[in-house]
Amino acid sequence: MSINAPAHQPSPEGTRLGELWSILPEQSGCDEAGVLTVGGVSVAELAEKYGTPLHVIDETGLRRQARSFAEGLKERWPNSEVLYASKSLPIVEMYRVAQQEGLAIDVAGGGELRMALAAGVDPRLLHFHGNAKTDAELAHALEVGIGVIIVDNEDELDRLEQLLTRPQRLLLRVIPGVDAVTHASQATGGDRSKFGLPMDQALRAIDRMQAHPLMDFEGVHLHIGSQILGTSQFAEAVEKLATAGRFKTYDVGGGLGVKYTYDDDAPTVEAYLDAIVAAAKEHLPADAKLMIEPGRSVVARAGITLYRVVSVKHTGDVFVAVDGGMADMLDVALTDQRFEAVLANRLAEPWEETVQLVGRQCESGDLLVDGAPMPAARPGDLVAIATTGAYSYTLANNYNGALKPAIVFVADGEARLVVRRESYEDLLALHAPAIG
Ligand SMILES: Cc1ncc(COP(=O)(O)O)c(C=O)c1O
Repeated sequence: MSINAPAHQPSPEGTRLGELWSILPEQSGCDEAGVLTVGGVSVAELAEKYGTPLHVIDETGLRRQARSFAEGLKERWPNSEVLYASKSLPIVEMYRVAQQEGLAIDVAGGGELRMALAAGVDPRLLHFHGNAKTDAELAHALEVGIGVIIVDNEDELDRLEQLLTRPQRLLLRVIPGVDAVTHASQATGGDRSKFGLPMDQALRAIDRMQAHPLMDFEGVHLHIGSQILGTSQFAEAVEKLATAGRFKTYDVGGGLGVKYTYDDDAPTVEAYLDAIVAAAKEHLPADAKLMIEPGRSVVARAGITLYRVVSVKHTGDVFVAVDGGMADMLDVALTDQRFEAVLANRLAEPWEETVQLVGRQCESGDLLVDGAPMPAARPGDLVAIATTGAYSYTLANNYNGALKPAIVFVADGEARLVVRRESYEDLLALHAPAIG
């Protein structure tokens, strides 16, 4: 395939492939053999070379999306910064890409901090989140010269008082009392949130920071939740944040939802930025710095997960079972998120069955797609689940001794391995040998 030709995106009769192209990675298409391509590379070749389950990331689409946040916010509010919320895809290569595309980075724990540093990210671009940062994590963050710590509570301030030896930039996370419309596990801004302090307590903590000679308090932060499909709640959050007072910086978190299913209607990046900036113009000081922290909406669409079909059973339902499952795709069980799937090596064939696409872990809840339309699948076929770039690798686990998948970045007809597959040796290395 010519690497610069636009990908062929057919819409065969008897399928919903035409609609799926807006959910699959931007740089995806169909080759002459009817096989899905991402970044100009056939997924059949990727599966052959790297094995399955495999996360495949469209690097071109990913970089374009990252830039659309950075440039879009700068155009609308020049004194601004976009932080990549790295929990959505915490891999060394992604930290490097985010920095290259002009994003600062949000880390939430010692592991993410180390991966960002391993990627060569300037520590001054790092913002450290978390409601239970340990002494060791805080000490390490201070030692490496972390840019900003987002303080969650007064115990953390006690720790910082002990640890600080030089001035440190700080923000404070507040609870805005905005109940985001999303899955309960993804709503984080309601009155009962475990993250941050309610306004009255926040004001006390702010006084404390402002009085401390080494605490360079810059402003306030909130994050109302994730996978939010409307823009009005982001505007409401900005308005609530303004009630904390007049500061140098306001960080309004992440949370923009993405289109996972045929029926989802997700706001564009532009509509989201318009809503936040309109609210900022109304409620925040004109010279304040405005920050946002998108994660999911930066990486989700760029990724697919490739699986190999292992068995097909007709037992009333049609069960198509693949060689992965909730060990590498926990989101369905955790948040009820629906995904769409496609038989990636037979794109041109009519979708004549509706199947239960299941994984191989020992839970009935290990259902990857409840009712996936596709051609009659056979063992050995390839299944691609769309929009898995965010929170899939993050939540991967070793259920039933599963190994964490590899990740490849693809662009311009080339693939490169950025995270290797976990091995059985890796798995066993953590355990003391059973002797005697
Ligand atoms: C503090 C904070 N900021 C940003 C995000 C990113 O959210 P999303 O991936 O929905 O954009 C999260 C996600 O949990 C978060 O906790």
